[in-house]
Amino acid sequence: MEFAELSVGDQKLKLAVVTGSEQERAIDIRELRAKAGLITLDSGYGNTGACQSSITYIDGEKGILNYRGYSIEDLANHATFVETSYLLIYGHLPTAAELADFRTLLIRNSLLHEDMLHFYDGYPSTAHPMAILSSMICSLSSYYPDSLDPGDPAQVERLIPRVLSKIRTIAAFAYKKSIGQPVIYPDNSLDYCSNFLNMMFAVPSEKYIIDPDVVKAVNTLLILHADHEQNCSTSTVRLVGSSDANLFASIAAGICALWGPKHGGANQKVVEMLQKIDDEGLDIKEVVRMAKDKNSSFRLMGFGHRVYRNYDPRARVIKEVSDKLLAKLNRSDPLLDIAKELEEHALSDDYFIERKLYPNVDFYSGITYRAIGIPLDMFTVMFAIGRIPGWIAHWKEMHLDGDGRIGRPRQVYTGARKRSFTAIEQR
Ligand code: SDX
Repeated sequence: MEFAELSVGDQKLKLAVVTGSEQERAIDIRELRAKAGLITLDSGYGNTGACQSSITYIDGEKGILNYRGYSIEDLANHATFVETSYLLIYGHLPTAAELADFRTLLIRNSLLHEDMLHFYDGYPSTAHPMAILSSMICSLSSYYPDSLDPGDPAQVERLIPRVLSKIRTIAAFAYKKSIGQPVIYPDNSLDYCSNFLNMMFAVPSEKYIIDPDVVKAVNTLLILHADHEQNCSTSTVRLVGSSDANLFASIAAGICALWGPKHGGANQKVVEMLQKIDDEGLDIKEVVRMAKDKNSSFRLMGFGHRVYRNYDPRARVIKEVSDKLLAKLNRSDPLLDIAKELEEHALSDDYFIERKLYPNVDFYSGITYRAIGIPLDMFTVMFAIGRIPGWIAHWKEMHLDGDGRIGRPRQVYTGARKRSFTAIEQR
């Protein structure tokens, strides 16, 4: 066992160093306060490990991302999103029988309770679908009181296909309601992604022709978004789940965290940024200059990452998917050309090079969603659908492998020292 030595004042402390399967090392400070009366301070948690996990490995320096040891490139090329979801949640690629059973569970859980359709009547057509997604997922807990106990593995197993399957239905129904079209119910003869596309784009008066290349693109994008270790929304799911809140509530919280433009909401912001450049004919060099200007609040959305100090491997795959899909659909998108020009300029600029700022998962994903016909305010919903298996896997791992303690960080207090109350007449 390796140790770190900490000396503070006349105190010397030996702290164990934990080494992971990819040789990452961490100082175990779980006894620091008890032994030395000290805590650590790390706003944004850039240097703090919240847990040990066997789900996903990221090498930010090399731009590597593996789910349960399999590279996302291999999974994107050879697996489906349902297979990848099974892998993340259960830890191994499913056999044909396991996959068939899992698919059957997803098929059997695609419908919403009919009463939930009334919820949509209360939202304005302009409601952001992330607001609807979070509240509907949380509201599912009202319909399944028999499976809310995180301590009962049988109840947890009942919840998993419900969340993974119904999130598509909730999302598609929100879109249909926002455009005044009748909802299209799930079609259990279709695979996971085709079923979602059909619910999104079919109308009662006309069959939706499912394009296998579009289905492949959706599968690939959902796989690439499926997990990313302790990101903001997954850490939120873990923290909320650590209070023994049920899976629906924990995932609803994760959806809210993902909505932020610094996180999953960036994919919508990227396309809004590209659209503005296109509409106003902005000069790319000027845009890059603005992104570097500390006096400007403008940031290059879809660029930069807390962990990647190299090209986000997901962005590389998504860029290829965008190119291929647009070519297949015999379409071009000026925003893709602008995105590529923006990337070229930024990656040759010292500001971005010094800070190791590269395109991240959100930089090209919106281009693909546009090509498919997904509306702008549904882009982050697509991210959420993809991230569901990762959130489930981490929530499960925390309950199975964690120490069962509630997550409760400390702080360093910097406020006023004790003072006497002053009556209002004296203030
Ligand atoms: C996701 O964590 C995950 O894994 C998330 C995610 C996942 O799969 O779950 O990968 C998904 O959220 C991807 C990120 C999507 N967000 C964006 O694209 C928004 C734009 N990016 C930035 O807001 C920023 O890069 C963050 C939020 C992603 C990361 O922020 P950090 O780690 O806190 O970095 P920082 O703000 O400390 O930046 C370091 C420097 C700063 O400059 P200096 O103070 O050193 O001079 O880089 C600059 C920043 O100003 N910088 C940028 C920039 N991102 C960082 N400058 C211009 N444009 C940018 N996009």
